[in-house]
Amino acid sequence: MTAASLSAARILLIIGGGIAAYKSLELIRRLRERGARVRVIMTQAGKHFIAPLSAAALSGQKVYDDLFSLTDEAEMGHIELSREADLLVVAPATADLIARMAQGLAHDLATTALLATDKRTLIAPAMNLRMWLHPATRRNVALLERDDVLFVGPMDGEMACGEFGPGRMAEPLEIVAAIEAALANTTVIPLPGGARAAFSSALAGMHVLVTSGPTHEAIDPVRFLANRSSGRQGHAIAEAAREAGARVTLVAGPVALPDPAGVQTLHVESAREMLTAVENALPADIFIAAAAVADWRAAQPGRNKIKKGGGPPTLKLVENPDILATIAGAARGRPRLVVGFAAETENVLDNARAKLRAKKTDLIVANDVGGESGVFGGRSNLVHLVSADGVDSWPAMDKSEVGRRLIARLAAMLGAGS
Ligand code: CTP
Repeated sequence: MTAASLSAARILLIIGGGIAAYKSLELIRRLRERGARVRVIMTQAGKHFIAPLSAAALSGQKVYDDLFSLTDEAEMGHIELSREADLLVVAPATADLIARMAQGLAHDLATTALLATDKRTLIAPAMNLRMWLHPATRRNVALLERDDVLFVGPMDGEMACGEFGPGRMAEPLEIVAAIEAALANTTVIPLPGGARAAFSSALAGMHVLVTSGPTHEAIDPVRFLANRSSGRQGHAIAEAAREAGARVTLVAGPVALPDPAGVQTLHVESAREMLTAVENALPADIFIAAAAVADWRAAQPGRNKIKKGGGPPTLKLVENPDILATIAGAARGRPRLVVGFAAETENVLDNARAKLRAKKTDLIVANDVGGESGVFGGRSNLVHLVSADGVDSWPAMDKSEVGRRLIARLAAMLGAGS
């Protein structure tokens, strides 16, 4: 199935100028192994990092780099380059390339091909983490997301510059998986005009309450317990609910994401603060608990920084309130739909069914967050929707697409029930 979905695919790969460009050579190999045809455009900066000859040898095709080459135009016009592709892939996508894409600039062959296309574009960002977190890049990324550009990564990790954080380009096989997911969904995303119009009012007049991100539980004034949640899925759900016309309240733990436009975002640190914020935001028609709430907190956080002398301290933990179970089990004022997530590393469906019953939710969105899945911190997600009616497994897709589909599903559930 993997090979079949790629075997007939025509990929236009744009290699930007970043140290991660060497991984794009591996990406070409992996795609060709699976039967895809890969044409390569390199930016001028890209050519500083890898030789066009390597890309040509691996792709078995001429590499294009010049917007004004008469020879190239005679062989294959630059418009034709993007027209004949099934998918455009930018890897590495540098901060500069992302900025130019967001502005619709077209002063070289790469950006011209990106602008001249009517096909989907998938980008694999790679840059220093401060560039990734800079408000200018956040704005540009938000613009591209609004334009339905797909993302794979960036991943958290150690970077070539020695710093640690988000900015590392996704591995070639992760990009291959994202390409397959994008190709599988070409007929579904973006929503066609009519469906998009219906979606934009699907939740009009409703209040949707979403939790997102991790929580931080203080051990002392400088240390805390936390988890790897990035908040991307929860934030994407809040954005999708807003797109669907709802009034949205997002209760966010500590995340490195911008507040979604048009969404009332309340920032909290701990599970107890999150519960209070959620209770204060009620009533709601739909409650979606996407946060990865810390199950435990320190029984007695140190008033001052705990010092090293005297050996390692014993940390006594107590359980945090379960926000989802509290809201779903409320005798009065329970939202009409309560949706939980189940982050699992084993027995995904069985554990999700157990959570559906135990927490009295209408739906559980289960995902496998085990070691290699790349779900925590990544941009794509593979989920199973578990309800009393059974299980609906979705193919891997971008978290914003999971958000939109989930919202469309909840709107349908409410429509069916009213
Ligand atoms: N959740 C919550 N409050 C908590 C713990 C979890 O609201 N204190 C919610 C999460 O937002 C998610 C769901 O419960 O929607 C499941 O979270 P998960 O961590 O997968 O399950 P737990 O209930 O914590 O169980 P376990 O850790 O044993 O798998």
